[in-house]
Amino acid sequence: MTVTDAPPEVHKGLAGVVADTTAISKVDSETNSLLYRGYPVQDLCAHRGFLDVAHLLWTGELPDATALAALTERERALRPIDRSLQALLMATPTTCHPMDTLRTAVSWLGSEDVREDDAGANATKSLRLLAALPTVVAIDQRRRRGQDPIAPDPSLGYSENFFHMTFGEVPAPEVVRAFEVSMILYAEHSFNASTFTARVVTSTLSDLYSAVVAGIGALKGPLHGGANEAVMHMLAEIDGPEAAQAWLAEALAGKRKIMGFGHRVYKRGDSRVPTLQRSLEEVVELTGAHDLLATHTALATAMHREKGLHPNLDYPAGPLYHLMGFDIPMFTPLFVMSRITGWTAHITEQLAANSLIRPLATYQGPARREVPAR
Ligand code: ACO
Repeated sequence: MTVTDAPPEVHKGLAGVVADTTAISKVDSETNSLLYRGYPVQDLCAHRGFLDVAHLLWTGELPDATALAALTERERALRPIDRSLQALLMATPTTCHPMDTLRTAVSWLGSEDVREDDAGANATKSLRLLAALPTVVAIDQRRRRGQDPIAPDPSLGYSENFFHMTFGEVPAPEVVRAFEVSMILYAEHSFNASTFTARVVTSTLSDLYSAVVAGIGALKGPLHGGANEAVMHMLAEIDGPEAAQAWLAEALAGKRKIMGFGHRVYKRGDSRVPTLQRSLEEVVELTGAHDLLATHTALATAMHREKGLHPNLDYPAGPLYHLMGFDIPMFTPLFVMSRITGWTAHITEQLAANSLIRPLATYQGPARREVPAR
Protein backbone atom coordinates (compact mmCIF):
# COMPACT_ATOMS: atom_id res chain seq x y z
CA MET A 1 0.00 0.00 0.00
CA THR A 2 1.22 3.52 -0.69
CA VAL A 3 0.34 6.78 1.01
CA THR A 4 0.34 10.25 -0.43
CA ASP A 5 1.23 13.25 1.71
CA ALA A 6 -1.41 15.94 1.72
CA PRO A 7 -0.70 18.53 -0.99
CA PRO A 8 1.16 21.25 -1.43
CA GLU A 9 0.60 21.30 -5.16
CA VAL A 10 3.32 19.60 -7.21
CA HIS A 11 4.83 21.62 -10.07
CA LYS A 12 6.19 18.80 -12.23
CA GLY A 13 9.38 19.90 -13.98
CA LEU A 14 9.12 23.16 -11.96
CA ALA A 15 6.88 24.39 -14.81
CA GLY A 16 5.61 27.88 -14.06
CA VAL A 17 7.61 28.14 -10.82
CA VAL A 18 9.47 31.41 -10.26
CA ALA A 19 12.59 30.32 -8.37
CA ASP A 20 14.42 33.67 -7.97
CA THR A 21 14.96 37.05 -9.58
CA THR A 22 17.61 37.79 -12.20
CA ALA A 23 18.94 40.96 -13.83
CA ILE A 24 20.73 39.12 -16.64
CA SER A 25 18.03 38.42 -19.21
CA LYS A 26 14.30 38.65 -19.67
CA VAL A 27 12.44 36.02 -21.67
CA ASP A 28 8.98 37.36 -22.47
CA SER A 29 6.68 34.80 -24.00
CA GLU A 30 3.84 37.32 -24.31
CA THR A 31 5.75 39.81 -26.45
CA ASN A 32 7.93 37.02 -27.85
CA SER A 33 11.10 38.87 -26.98
CA LEU A 34 14.45 38.25 -25.32
CA LEU A 35 16.43 41.04 -23.66
CA TYR A 36 20.02 40.73 -22.41
CA ARG A 37 20.41 43.30 -19.62
CA GLY A 38 17.63 45.29 -21.31
CA TYR A 39 18.92 45.10 -24.91
CA PRO A 40 16.87 43.17 -27.52
CA VAL A 41 18.97 40.23 -28.61
CA GLN A 42 18.27 40.78 -32.32
CA ASP A 43 19.67 44.34 -32.01
CA LEU A 44 22.80 43.00 -30.31
CA CYS A 45 23.19 40.57 -33.22
CA ALA A 46 22.84 43.44 -35.72
CA HIS A 47 25.27 45.84 -34.09
CA ARG A 48 27.66 44.01 -31.75
CA GLY A 49 30.02 41.04 -31.51
CA PHE A 50 30.12 38.08 -29.17
CA LEU A 51 32.77 39.63 -26.89
CA ASP A 52 30.62 42.77 -26.46
CA VAL A 53 27.79 40.47 -25.37
CA ALA A 54 30.04 38.55 -22.98
CA HIS A 55 31.04 41.86 -21.38
CA LEU A 56 27.38 42.89 -21.19
CA LEU A 57 26.27 39.66 -19.55
CA TRP A 58 29.15 39.65 -17.06
CA THR A 59 29.19 43.32 -16.07
CA GLY A 60 25.71 44.62 -16.90
CA GLU A 61 26.92 47.11 -19.53
CA LEU A 62 28.18 47.02 -23.11
CA PRO A 63 31.92 47.81 -23.29
CA ASP A 64 33.21 51.12 -24.66
CA ALA A 65 36.07 50.95 -27.17
CA THR A 66 38.75 50.84 -24.45
CA ALA A 67 37.05 48.10 -22.46
CA LEU A 68 36.43 46.02 -25.60
CA ALA A 69 40.07 46.37 -26.63
CA ALA A 70 41.20 45.21 -23.18
CA LEU A 71 38.79 42.26 -23.20
CA THR A 72 39.87 41.30 -26.72
CA GLU A 73 43.53 41.35 -25.74
CA ARG A 74 42.95 39.18 -22.68
CA GLU A 75 40.74 36.73 -24.58
CA ARG A 76 43.43 36.26 -27.23
CA ALA A 77 46.13 35.72 -24.58
CA LEU A 78 44.08 33.07 -22.75
CA ARG A 79 43.33 30.85 -25.77
CA PRO A 80 46.30 28.40 -25.62
CA ILE A 81 45.98 25.27 -23.52
CA ASP A 82 48.99 23.57 -21.93
CA ARG A 83 50.55 20.25 -22.85
CA SER A 84 48.93 18.36 -19.98
CA LEU A 85 45.42 19.27 -21.14
CA GLN A 86 46.32 18.51 -24.75
CA ALA A 87 47.59 15.09 -23.64
CA LEU A 88 44.37 14.51 -21.70
CA LEU A 89 42.29 15.41 -24.75
CA MET A 90 44.27 13.03 -26.92
CA ALA A 91 43.83 10.26 -24.32
CA THR A 92 40.03 10.65 -24.12
CA PRO A 93 38.38 7.85 -26.12
CA THR A 94 37.06 8.98 -29.51
CA THR A 95 34.08 6.74 -28.85
CA CYS A 96 32.82 9.21 -26.24
CA HIS A 97 30.63 12.15 -27.16
CA PRO A 98 32.49 15.48 -27.62
CA MET A 99 30.39 16.87 -24.75
CA ASP A 100 32.10 14.26 -22.55
CA THR A 101 35.49 15.46 -23.77
CA LEU A 102 34.52 19.04 -23.03
CA ARG A 103 33.17 18.18 -19.57
CA THR A 104 36.43 16.36 -18.80
CA ALA A 105 38.49 19.32 -20.05
CA VAL A 106 36.61 21.80 -17.83
CA SER A 107 37.08 19.48 -14.87
CA TRP A 108 40.81 19.37 -15.62
CA LEU A 109 41.04 23.16 -15.94
CA GLY A 110 39.34 23.37 -12.54
CA SER A 111 41.86 21.00 -10.99
CA GLU A 112 44.68 23.28 -12.19
CA ASP A 113 43.09 26.45 -10.85
CA VAL A 114 43.15 26.69 -7.08
CA ARG A 115 42.13 30.35 -6.79
CA GLU A 116 39.41 31.18 -4.28
CA ASP A 117 35.89 31.65 -5.60
CA ASP A 118 35.57 35.36 -4.92
CA ALA A 119 34.01 37.62 -7.56
CA GLY A 120 37.39 38.78 -8.93
CA ALA A 121 38.78 35.28 -9.37
CA ASN A 122 35.49 34.11 -10.88
CA ALA A 123 35.64 36.89 -13.49
CA THR A 124 39.10 35.67 -14.54
CA LYS A 125 37.98 32.03 -14.56
CA SER A 126 34.96 32.92 -16.71
CA LEU A 127 37.14 34.65 -19.29
CA ARG A 128 39.65 31.81 -19.22
CA LEU A 129 36.88 29.34 -20.04
CA LEU A 130 35.44 31.55 -22.78
CA ALA A 131 38.92 31.81 -24.36
CA ALA A 132 40.09 28.20 -23.89
CA LEU A 133 36.92 26.21 -24.70
CA PRO A 134 37.12 26.93 -28.46
CA THR A 135 40.70 25.59 -28.43
CA VAL A 136 39.50 22.40 -26.74
CA VAL A 137 36.54 21.98 -29.12
CA ALA A 138 38.70 22.58 -32.20
CA ILE A 139 41.35 20.06 -31.08
CA ASP A 140 38.64 17.50 -30.37
CA GLN A 141 37.00 17.98 -33.77
CA ARG A 142 40.38 17.61 -35.52
CA ARG A 143 41.61 14.56 -33.60
CA ARG A 144 38.35 12.76 -34.39
CA ARG A 145 39.17 13.38 -38.05
CA GLY A 146 42.76 12.15 -37.56
CA GLN A 147 44.18 15.68 -37.86
CA ASP A 148 46.83 17.43 -35.76
CA PRO A 149 45.90 20.44 -33.61
CA ILE A 150 46.27 23.97 -34.98
CA ALA A 151 47.45 26.59 -32.48
CA PRO A 152 45.27 29.66 -31.84
CA ASP A 153 46.14 32.74 -33.89
CA PRO A 154 46.13 35.90 -31.72
CA SER A 155 45.82 38.10 -34.82
CA LEU A 156 42.32 36.73 -35.49
CA GLY A 157 39.02 37.59 -33.83
CA TYR A 158 37.11 35.07 -31.68
CA SER A 159 35.06 33.42 -34.44
CA GLU A 160 37.70 33.68 -37.17
CA ASN A 161 40.25 32.06 -34.86
CA PHE A 162 37.85 29.23 -34.08
CA PHE A 163 37.38 28.44 -37.78
CA HIS A 164 41.17 28.68 -38.26
CA MET A 165 41.82 26.22 -35.38
CA THR A 166 39.12 23.81 -36.57
CA PHE A 167 39.56 23.82 -40.35
CA GLY A 168 42.90 25.54 -40.98
CA GLU A 169 41.15 28.36 -42.83
CA VAL A 170 38.77 31.24 -42.26
CA PRO A 171 35.58 31.12 -44.38
CA ALA A 172 33.75 34.00 -46.09
CA PRO A 173 32.91 36.96 -43.82
CA GLU A 174 29.18 36.12 -44.10
CA VAL A 175 29.85 32.68 -42.62
CA VAL A 176 31.98 34.10 -39.81
CA ARG A 177 29.23 36.63 -39.07
CA ALA A 178 26.55 33.90 -39.04
CA PHE A 179 28.64 31.98 -36.52
CA GLU A 180 29.06 35.08 -34.36
CA VAL A 181 25.28 35.62 -34.48
CA SER A 182 24.72 32.04 -33.32
CA MET A 183 27.14 32.63 -30.42
CA ILE A 184 25.19 35.75 -29.38
CA LEU A 185 21.81 34.00 -29.62
CA TYR A 186 22.93 30.94 -27.65
CA ALA A 187 24.65 32.99 -24.92
CA GLU A 188 21.89 33.40 -22.37
CA HIS A 189 18.29 32.37 -21.70
CA SER A 190 17.36 32.98 -18.08
CA PHE A 191 16.62 29.91 -15.90
CA ASN A 192 16.91 27.25 -18.59
CA ALA A 193 17.79 23.73 -17.41
CA SER A 194 21.59 23.99 -17.68
CA THR A 195 21.78 27.49 -16.17
CA PHE A 196 19.52 26.47 -13.32
CA THR A 197 21.73 23.42 -12.79
CA ALA A 198 24.79 25.68 -12.55
CA ARG A 199 22.93 27.88 -10.06
CA VAL A 200 21.93 24.87 -7.95
CA VAL A 201 25.57 23.76 -7.71
CA THR A 202 26.70 27.32 -6.95
CA SER A 203 24.05 27.65 -4.25
CA THR A 204 25.87 25.01 -2.19
CA LEU A 205 28.95 27.30 -2.36
CA SER A 206 30.71 24.83 -4.61
CA ASP A 207 33.21 26.21 -7.15
CA LEU A 208 32.68 27.74 -10.59
CA TYR A 209 34.22 24.83 -12.51
CA SER A 210 31.96 22.31 -10.75
CA ALA A 211 28.94 24.42 -11.68
CA VAL A 212 30.06 24.62 -15.32
CA VAL A 213 30.72 20.87 -15.49
CA ALA A 214 27.18 20.27 -14.20
CA GLY A 215 25.82 22.77 -16.73
CA ILE A 216 27.55 20.87 -19.55
CA GLY A 217 25.95 17.67 -18.31
CA ALA A 218 22.50 19.25 -18.37
CA LEU A 219 23.00 20.86 -21.78
CA LYS A 220 24.03 17.58 -23.40
CA GLY A 221 20.53 16.09 -23.25
CA PRO A 222 18.40 16.11 -26.41
CA LEU A 223 15.54 17.95 -24.71
CA HIS A 224 17.97 20.86 -24.21
CA GLY A 225 21.19 21.67 -26.11
CA GLY A 226 21.55 18.22 -27.61
CA ALA A 227 18.57 19.07 -29.81
CA ASN A 228 20.75 20.95 -32.34
CA GLU A 229 22.49 17.66 -33.17
CA ALA A 230 19.23 15.71 -33.18
CA VAL A 231 17.75 18.20 -35.68
CA MET A 232 20.48 17.42 -38.20
CA HIS A 233 20.17 13.65 -37.72
CA MET A 234 16.44 14.04 -38.29
CA LEU A 235 16.83 16.17 -41.45
CA ALA A 236 19.24 13.55 -42.80
CA GLU A 237 16.45 10.95 -42.49
CA ILE A 238 14.06 12.95 -44.69
CA ASP A 239 14.36 12.31 -48.38
CA GLY A 240 13.75 15.85 -49.68
CA PRO A 241 10.96 18.41 -49.16
CA GLU A 242 8.24 16.27 -50.77
CA ALA A 243 8.91 13.53 -48.21
CA ALA A 244 8.62 15.82 -45.15
CA GLN A 245 4.86 15.47 -44.59
CA ALA A 246 4.87 11.66 -44.79
CA TRP A 247 8.01 11.43 -42.63
CA LEU A 248 6.37 13.62 -39.99
CA ALA A 249 3.10 11.65 -40.01
CA GLU A 250 5.03 8.43 -39.40
CA ALA A 251 7.22 9.99 -36.69
CA LEU A 252 4.22 11.41 -34.84
CA ALA A 253 2.34 8.12 -35.18
CA GLY A 254 5.37 6.51 -33.53
CA LYS A 255 5.13 9.09 -30.69
CA ARG A 256 8.51 10.56 -31.59
CA LYS A 257 9.49 14.00 -30.32
CA ILE A 258 10.31 16.18 -33.31
CA MET A 259 13.60 17.78 -32.41
CA GLY A 260 13.99 21.54 -32.65
CA PHE A 261 10.27 22.17 -32.05
CA GLY A 262 8.43 23.35 -28.95
CA HIS A 263 9.63 25.28 -25.94
CA ARG A 264 8.83 25.34 -22.24
CA VAL A 265 8.49 29.15 -22.17
CA TYR A 266 7.73 30.30 -25.71
CA LYS A 267 4.43 28.91 -26.90
CA ARG A 268 4.06 31.26 -29.90
CA GLY A 269 7.54 30.88 -31.34
CA ASP A 270 11.10 31.29 -30.09
CA SER A 271 12.17 34.96 -30.31
CA ARG A 272 15.67 33.98 -31.47
CA VAL A 273 14.62 31.92 -34.47
CA PRO A 274 13.96 34.65 -37.11
CA THR A 275 17.47 36.08 -36.64
CA LEU A 276 19.25 32.74 -36.95
CA GLN A 277 16.94 31.65 -39.76
CA ARG A 278 18.14 34.67 -41.77
CA SER A 279 21.75 33.66 -41.10
CA LEU A 280 20.95 30.12 -42.25
CA GLU A 281 19.39 31.44 -45.45
CA GLU A 282 22.46 33.61 -46.15
CA VAL A 283 24.77 30.62 -45.71
CA VAL A 284 22.50 28.52 -47.95
CA GLU A 285 22.88 31.18 -50.67
CA LEU A 286 26.67 30.85 -50.37
CA THR A 287 26.79 27.06 -50.25
CA GLY A 288 23.93 26.28 -52.64
CA ALA A 289 22.29 23.87 -50.18
CA HIS A 290 18.81 24.79 -51.37
CA ASP A 291 17.44 21.25 -51.01
CA LEU A 292 18.37 21.13 -47.35
CA LEU A 293 16.67 24.47 -46.74
CA ALA A 294 13.58 23.34 -48.67
CA THR A 295 13.32 20.19 -46.53
CA HIS A 296 13.86 22.26 -43.38
CA THR A 297 11.07 24.66 -44.40
CA ALA A 298 8.72 21.86 -45.47
CA LEU A 299 9.10 20.09 -42.13
CA ALA A 300 8.45 23.32 -40.18
CA THR A 301 5.32 23.98 -42.25
CA ALA A 302 4.06 20.43 -41.73
CA MET A 303 4.83 20.55 -38.00
CA HIS A 304 2.88 23.77 -37.58
CA ARG A 305 -0.05 22.32 -39.49
CA GLU A 306 -0.05 19.00 -37.57
CA LYS A 307 0.85 20.09 -34.02
CA GLY A 308 0.74 23.90 -33.99
CA LEU A 309 4.34 23.85 -32.69
CA HIS A 310 6.98 26.41 -33.68
CA PRO A 311 10.73 25.81 -34.17
CA ASN A 312 13.15 26.69 -31.36
CA LEU A 313 16.71 28.02 -31.77
CA ASP A 314 18.15 24.56 -32.32
CA TYR A 315 16.11 24.14 -35.51
CA PRO A 316 18.07 26.64 -37.65
CA ALA A 317 21.30 26.04 -35.67
CA GLY A 318 21.60 22.36 -36.67
CA PRO A 319 21.69 22.88 -40.47
CA LEU A 320 23.68 26.11 -40.08
CA TYR A 321 26.52 24.35 -38.25
CA HIS A 322 26.34 21.47 -40.73
CA LEU A 323 26.77 23.85 -43.67
CA MET A 324 29.72 25.49 -41.90
CA GLY A 325 31.45 22.10 -41.97
CA PHE A 326 31.21 20.97 -38.33
CA ASP A 327 30.57 17.28 -37.66
CA ILE A 328 27.17 16.74 -36.02
CA PRO A 329 28.49 15.64 -32.57
CA MET A 330 30.34 18.97 -32.30
CA PHE A 331 27.14 21.06 -32.45
CA THR A 332 26.33 20.99 -28.74
CA PRO A 333 29.93 21.87 -27.74
CA LEU A 334 29.49 24.98 -29.94
CA PHE A 335 26.45 25.82 -27.78
CA VAL A 336 28.68 25.44 -24.68
CA MET A 337 31.26 27.86 -26.13
CA SER A 338 28.52 30.46 -26.18
CA ARG A 339 26.47 29.58 -23.07
CA ILE A 340 29.60 29.70 -20.90
CA THR A 341 28.91 33.45 -20.76
CA GLY A 342 25.36 33.06 -19.45
CA TRP A 343 26.28 30.28 -17.02
CA THR A 344 29.12 32.24 -15.48
CA ALA A 345 27.04 35.44 -15.28
CA HIS A 346 24.41 33.45 -13.37
CA ILE A 347 27.02 31.84 -11.10
CA THR A 348 28.19 35.33 -10.14
CA GLU A 349 24.62 36.55 -9.63
CA GLN A 350 23.74 33.51 -7.51
CA LEU A 351 26.81 34.00 -5.30
CA ALA A 352 26.07 37.69 -4.80
CA ALA A 353 22.76 36.94 -3.05
CA ASN A 354 22.97 33.25 -2.31
CA SER A 355 20.33 31.01 -0.84
CA LEU A 356 20.65 27.22 -0.97
CA ILE A 357 18.37 25.85 -3.70
CA ARG A 358 16.57 22.93 -2.18
CA PRO A 359 12.96 22.24 -3.23
CA LEU A 360 10.54 19.82 -1.59
CA ALA A 361 8.95 16.64 -2.91
CA THR A 362 5.60 15.08 -2.14
CA TYR A 363 6.25 11.56 -0.87
CA GLN A 364 4.38 8.78 -2.68
CA GLY A 365 6.20 5.68 -1.44
CA PRO A 366 5.17 2.97 1.05
CA ALA A 367 3.67 4.01 4.41
CA ARG A 368 5.82 3.62 7.51
CA ARG A 369 6.54 -0.06 8.17
CA GLU A 370 8.63 -2.21 10.48
CA VAL A 371 11.95 -3.68 9.38
CA PRO A 372 11.39 -7.48 9.59
CA ALA A 373 13.82 -9.20 11.96
CA ARG A 374 16.15 -11.69 10.27
N1 ACO B 1 7.52 17.03 -30.89
C1 ACO B 1 6.34 16.42 -30.72
N2 ACO B 1 5.48 16.76 -29.74
C2 ACO B 1 5.85 17.75 -28.93
C3 ACO B 1 7.07 18.43 -29.06
C4 ACO B 1 7.92 18.04 -30.08
N3 ACO B 1 9.09 18.64 -30.29
N4 ACO B 1 7.17 19.39 -28.11
C5 ACO B 1 6.05 19.31 -27.38
N5 ACO B 1 5.26 18.31 -27.89
C6 ACO B 1 3.95 17.91 -27.39
C7 ACO B 1 4.13 16.90 -26.29
O1 ACO B 1 4.17 15.58 -26.75
C8 ACO B 1 2.92 17.19 -25.45
O2 ACO B 1 1.79 16.61 -26.07
P1 ACO B 1 0.65 15.90 -25.18
O3 ACO B 1 0.12 17.01 -24.29
O4 ACO B 1 -0.28 15.40 -26.19
O5 ACO B 1 1.36 14.84 -24.39
C9 ACO B 1 2.76 18.70 -25.54
O6 ACO B 1 3.32 19.06 -26.80
C10 ACO B 1 3.46 19.44 -24.44
O7 ACO B 1 4.84 19.05 -24.47
P2 ACO B 1 5.81 19.01 -23.21
O8 ACO B 1 6.97 18.15 -23.55
O9 ACO B 1 5.00 18.69 -21.99
O10 ACO B 1 6.20 20.53 -23.15
P3 ACO B 1 7.38 21.08 -22.31
O11 ACO B 1 7.13 22.50 -22.15
O12 ACO B 1 7.61 20.27 -21.09
O13 ACO B 1 8.60 20.75 -23.28
C11 ACO B 1 10.39 20.78 -24.72
C12 ACO B 1 9.40 21.64 -23.91
C13 ACO B 1 11.12 19.80 -23.80
C14 ACO B 1 11.42 21.72 -25.36
C15 ACO B 1 9.63 20.00 -25.79
O14 ACO B 1 8.95 20.89 -26.63
C16 ACO B 1 10.55 19.10 -26.59
O15 ACO B 1 10.83 17.97 -26.18
N6 ACO B 1 11.05 19.56 -27.78
C17 ACO B 1 12.00 18.80 -28.56
C18 ACO B 1 13.42 18.97 -28.00
C19 ACO B 1 13.99 20.32 -28.30
O16 ACO B 1 13.89 20.82 -29.41
N7 ACO B 1 14.66 20.91 -27.30
C20 ACO B 1 15.31 22.21 -27.44
C21 ACO B 1 14.76 23.20 -26.46
S1 ACO B 1 15.29 24.85 -26.82
C22 ACO B 1 16.94 24.91 -26.45
O17 ACO B 1 17.47 24.16 -25.65
C23 ACO B 1 17.74 25.96 -27.17
